[in-house]
Amino acid sequence: MDMTKVQPRSGKHNVEDLDVLREGFDWEEMKKDFSWYKTGKVNAAYEAIDRHAENPNKKDQVALLYSAPDREESITFDQLSKQSNKTANIFKKYGIQKGDRVFLFMPRSPEFYANFFGILKVGAIAGPLFEAFMEQAVRDRLEDSEATMLITTPELLSRVPVSDLPNLKQIVLVGANGDTEGDNYINFEEEMAEASENFDIEWVDREDGMLIHYTSGSTGKPKGVYHVHNAMIQHYATGKWVIDFKDDDIYWCTADPGWVTGTSYGIFAPWLNGVTNVIRGGRFSPESWYETLDKHNVTIWYTAPTALRKFVSAGDEVVKQYDLSSLRHVMSVGEPLNPEVITWALRVLDLRIHDTWWMTETGAMLIVNLPSMEIRPGSMGRPIPGVEAAIVDNEGNELPPNQMGNLAIKKGWPSMMRAIWKNPGKFESYFINGWYVSGDSAYMDEDGYFWFQGRLDDVINTSGERVGPFEVESKLIEHKAVAEAGVIGKPDPERGEIIKAFITLNPGYESSDELLEDIRQFVKTGLSAHAAPREIEIKDSIPKTRSGKIMRRLLKSWELGLPTGDTSTLEE
Ligand code: WT7
Repeated sequence: MDMTKVQPRSGKHNVEDLDVLREGFDWEEMKKDFSWYKTGKVNAAYEAIDRHAENPNKKDQVALLYSAPDREESITFDQLSKQSNKTANIFKKYGIQKGDRVFLFMPRSPEFYANFFGILKVGAIAGPLFEAFMEQAVRDRLEDSEATMLITTPELLSRVPVSDLPNLKQIVLVGANGDTEGDNYINFEEEMAEASENFDIEWVDREDGMLIHYTSGSTGKPKGVYHVHNAMIQHYATGKWVIDFKDDDIYWCTADPGWVTGTSYGIFAPWLNGVTNVIRGGRFSPESWYETLDKHNVTIWYTAPTALRKFVSAGDEVVKQYDLSSLRHVMSVGEPLNPEVITWALRVLDLRIHDTWWMTETGAMLIVNLPSMEIRPGSMGRPIPGVEAAIVDNEGNELPPNQMGNLAIKKGWPSMMRAIWKNPGKFESYFINGWYVSGDSAYMDEDGYFWFQGRLDDVINTSGERVGPFEVESKLIEHKAVAEAGVIGKPDPERGEIIKAFITLNPGYESSDELLEDIRQFVKTGLSAHAAPREIEIKDSIPKTRSGKIMRRLLKSWELGLPTGDTSTLEE
């Protein structure tokens, strides 16, 4: 089999040919599919849920198919509309107004989605937090966003430093079994029992805030990437073109809504397209995921290379125990998609895997493989209609094909972030000469396919999760034994990269397995499990520039046994 090009499967796709679609494409045309195009009244929650609930042919269709080890539930568009009207009434009752930040720190559950849309319905800005975050991660995000309300569970509340967060006025507790105490606590179940199913949705401007997702860069604390309602245009469009949604699809996006994939493609794309959306709670294992695909007859699956690699290593015997014949379309995002995984899927599932490239900041897919496209394993694909991508140099000049450089996108696609929360300088720093510069290095071949080469900054991608070295270093030096720390990503066949920390010890401490494990646990329980270094190495000193910046690049070269390059700025 020639693995350099994999041709499309036969069958009817929404979009037959990318070049035809790109020709003369205009985002204005896409807007006509939304009710606000006619009414002038905008709210993404209305377009995703209420619009279908008002449609007699659609209202009783299952919107959310929830499946967790201890709970199964089917919720129709009509029910989700009413439940989110109720949560909106609760928020309104407690004074939440347009533009307020309301954060969610709770597991994926039907209540999460009812609350999420309730936040949008009052015109507030939702901030979903990954449930595995520990205290420092939660604190950083609530502090920076100045969130006034948090929706959480009694189990997770211990990780919220409530008394240190002056802006946080109210906490909605979900599943508190009636024993919610204190003026600032709101009992979710009690309020829901009383709340009205009717709500006058707050109409907003397309440029009004909808979501903040925190993500990591190479310096500083996590930054709040601010998205507006207008992003729905691209969520909807890529849902049509790339995910190939049809009315009767059963779709499953495996990402948690604490990450952007779990909102753009776990919430908006499927529901704007009126499709049944599978949400799975509980932990990952190849068996439990195959079971989900089988049991719900999933037709479209959007997942990540790190999970796919685990499927490959689980072996062919496991997959044979399940009936995956409903599955017709598979997509991937978050890290480089290994050609071996594509080969595996062709053999085992008889399906291609369609890579997609985008970022928290871009809000939606930009470089993709449509079902109708030839796939070139190892390439991320080509830009969607209405998007111009290029490889540019550091001054923002376009480079010719096959030359490596910065992967950049012409500013102005619908779902582009509109700000970094309270940090205009950071926002501006993404743009050079009219291009949004991604931080990824890549090249483009003669046919316009883009090939990912790596990150240009120190951002780490471990199992598809983006980790900033600065955050991990800051946490490490809070440990009493650690004097200095430098953190890098070290290549790993299964996880893409693992986090490796180099540290120096304070006087009086000596290296031991117990100490290293204690330091690891300190990061894990303080920040989050995915940010904890898998490897820690003790050094006599950490290389720094004369201005005191940790030279992570040098640490990486040492680790990989590569030439160290220019070290002229190295401190004595
Ligand atoms: C970074 C963005 C929004 C998607 C989830 C990740 C890497 C993303 C690919 C891909 C190679 C990829 C890039 C990017 N990345 N997709 N198809 N192939 N690398 O969002 O956490 O904001 O991370 O993930 O390095 O810059 P994120």
